[in-house]
Amino acid sequence: MDEKTKNRLGVEENKPTDWFERLYSDADEGGEGVPWANMAPHPVFKSWISDNPNTQKGKTALVIGCGMGDDAIELESQGFKVTAFDVSNSAIELCKTRFPNAEVKFIQADLLEGISDWNRKFDFVLEIYTIQALPPKYEKTLIKNISDFVADNGKLLVITETQEGKRTFENGPPWLLNHEYLESFESCGLKQIFHSSNTETEMGEATHLTIFQRQP
Ligand SMILES: C[S@@+](CC[C@H](N)C(=O)[O-])C[C@H]1O[C@@H](n2cnc3c(N)ncnc32)[C@H](O)[C@@H]1O
Repeated sequence: MDEKTKNRLGVEENKPTDWFERLYSDADEGGEGVPWANMAPHPVFKSWISDNPNTQKGKTALVIGCGMGDDAIELESQGFKVTAFDVSNSAIELCKTRFPNAEVKFIQADLLEGISDWNRKFDFVLEIYTIQALPPKYEKTLIKNISDFVADNGKLLVITETQEGKRTFENGPPWLLNHEYLESFESCGLKQIFHSSNTETEMGEATHLTIFQRQP
């Protein structure tokens, strides 16, 4: 993001989530003005879940930073009981307006604060691009809080972009991750069980899909 847009949106290192509410409060149900809103499930996630359909109905799923809500709806269509949260209240209201008949629980909550009621509660946790949407100094907290949601034997699917360079506040958003995020998740009790990379992306950055499982 260029410096002018960053200033206009008010992206601040010490108030890292405020700008999301400003962005979504100006948006409409069509997602106009939300740069990552493609109004459909993320294509890499969609392709993965089509190849790996959920076979056990009634399992619980949590969507981190759910944005416009399409990934949550995809999980519901796979038979999961879905909770989806975002720090922006306006994003959550847009999800409810877009999907009035969905059974997904759309909730406003802040990942940085952690949500103790959800500790080890979910069979499947989905994280797409939330860690890289926050400044580098929060990475460890975000990874710890995401990992805490995964139940024993539960799975976490992470889609992220990576870079070789140093992560600094000046270089984002987005703050693409370094490869070490894999070890950070493993140090939170999760084991990597699948990893695939896609280098043919629109932005030219490598997109990685990783699945972790909590070892009981
Ligand atoms: C880059 S967007 C990705 C949205 C969605 N996952 C997708 O792939 O379209 C990051 C999302 O995370 C949300 N977010 C940022 N910080 C958050 C936090 N601390 N807790 C919960 N959601 C957060 C933003 O409001 C935004 O919807």
